[in-house]
Amino acid sequence: MAPSTIDRRTALKSLAAGTAALTVPRVFDPVAAAAPAARGIFGYGVASGDPTGTSLVIWTRATPPASPGQAVAAPGSGLGKPLQVRWEVARDENFRDVVARGTVRTSADTDHTLKVDVTGLAPYTRYHYRFESRGETSPVGHTRTAPDVPGEVHALRLALVSCSNYTGGFFTAYRAIAARDDLDLVLHVGDYIYEYPNGYGRYGPPELVGVRDHQPEGETIDLEGYRLRHALHKADPDAQAAHRALPWITIFDDHEVTNNAWADGAGNHQGDEGDYLARREAALQAYLEWMPFRLPDQSEPHQGTQFFKRFTFGALAELSVLETRQNRSEQASSPLSPIDGFIPLGNPATDAVIADPTRHLAEPQQLQWLKDGLAAQGRPWHLVGNQVMVTPVRYPGVALGLPGTFVNADQWDGYAVDQAALLGHLAALAAQPASAGAVVLTGDIHSSWGADLPVAVGPTGTYTAVGVEFVTPSVTSDGFYEIVRNFFPSFSAEQAVGATGQVTGAVRQANPWVRYLNGIGHGYTVIDVTPQRVQADFHHTPVPTSASPDPRIDPNAMPVYAASMQTLAGSRRVSTASGPVGPRADEPA
Ligand SMILES: [Fe+2]
Repeated sequence: MAPSTIDRRTALKSLAAGTAALTVPRVFDPVAAAAPAARGIFGYGVASGDPTGTSLVIWTRATPPASPGQAVAAPGSGLGKPLQVRWEVARDENFRDVVARGTVRTSADTDHTLKVDVTGLAPYTRYHYRFESRGETSPVGHTRTAPDVPGEVHALRLALVSCSNYTGGFFTAYRAIAARDDLDLVLHVGDYIYEYPNGYGRYGPPELVGVRDHQPEGETIDLEGYRLRHALHKADPDAQAAHRALPWITIFDDHEVTNNAWADGAGNHQGDEGDYLARREAALQAYLEWMPFRLPDQSEPHQGTQFFKRFTFGALAELSVLETRQNRSEQASSPLSPIDGFIPLGNPATDAVIADPTRHLAEPQQLQWLKDGLAAQGRPWHLVGNQVMVTPVRYPGVALGLPGTFVNADQWDGYAVDQAALLGHLAALAAQPASAGAVVLTGDIHSSWGADLPVAVGPTGTYTAVGVEFVTPSVTSDGFYEIVRNFFPSFSAEQAVGATGQVTGAVRQANPWVRYLNGIGHGYTVIDVTPQRVQADFHHTPVPTSASPDPRIDPNAMPVYAASMQTLAGSRRVSTASGPVGPRADEPA
């Protein structure tokens, strides 16, 4: 979801009016991205990712110590000599039972980041890892291989997150995830960073100006900028804690490059910003350097670099992680767009673009790979890590005080042929009782949803459900509540909460397959998978009040349990769950 032109304008107006009062304590270093480089070799923490039953990627950034009189090798600087780094992985936190170790060299070529794909590990097992160089030892990272024992069913519980805009607020969702002791992994489905600048075009509450500013100052366009922006996120103490605690599976969406990206351009890429493909190459290089991401072995037919990949969890589930930006067709657009990316239906020209069979979200080869994965039998669930909503959503204009009906052209709704192909495939699978239940896990829209995936929608709103989609709220990016506040700046927080409820209520009414929608809370979603059901527990920041109209600017506003939805095996639809998930059925070794 993009910031609307209105909320940017409002933010600017607020700044101009001097309302950017620094009421928020300056709890973190204002030059956070570069500061850890001066604090020691491993100031950016450690991370692990892409767990399989037998392997894990471990990651760190090793800053070479500066010689007297020399500049520190800050991220993006290209400075600093190569460094040898030792790594070790152990079964115990004291590293008495080391199961793997080695030495790697890192240099300015990779911005002094390094990754090791540690193999030969035991499935569903806890491990601890650390790095050492020049007598300095990194913080100890805690991780675990996937609950992926062939033929066996073990517990599977993950935290689903998206849209972590640094200037949007504190990463309390990450802090809450790090504090839990019941998760196997974190799944981040995109917008891990945002490309926006601090000044004109800043995205986020004006109260955080000077408190949580982006580095670099300007929009990220080149390799140096993307590296520094990633470093900023690895400097955040809450992000560090969540990376140190659990393995992450991640995939980029548009903002890791720039807003509303498509195959060879983007909504937020202008001609004076240089060649778009060169920009994307720089952005993805920095992403691969700074994320604990294992590039797949390029074994699937695809166009460009293959980023989409699949994970297995024993006899319980598979997870297909999509990548829908590199090859997508340009979004349909309309001069009648009230909010960036939303376009009215009923206009023959834009309707024809949306229905054009030559336009794609994922390239045809990737869509076929997804369909094949969904059709595989033998496990009760097939999870899909996905960037933008699959569920058809018709936004009634009345919610915005406008006539007509709108769709978000950046979601699957904007690519009607691909959307129909996927839903039609799920409908065919639904007729086969042995096929897996499809559970799509999505972010992007900065709000919490539980929806049936509908086919055969009738004029009175009747439909057949063929799977479900759970959508996680943003960690910090503006959602419906913030958009309402920006439209109606005179509203109290309570009025804005009420108006947001009216908007989301109208959206639900227009889309009866949407069973849950919250446009107010930020946070994360726990996804718990058992053979009997998949449950989504939404965890939200406190409901805003006049005393705290924007909890995102409160460094202590932790997300707490808010609501649960589920899908029962065989039902292929969403129902309400009675309460939050309890203890896990079993624990990793
Ligand atoms: Fe986002």
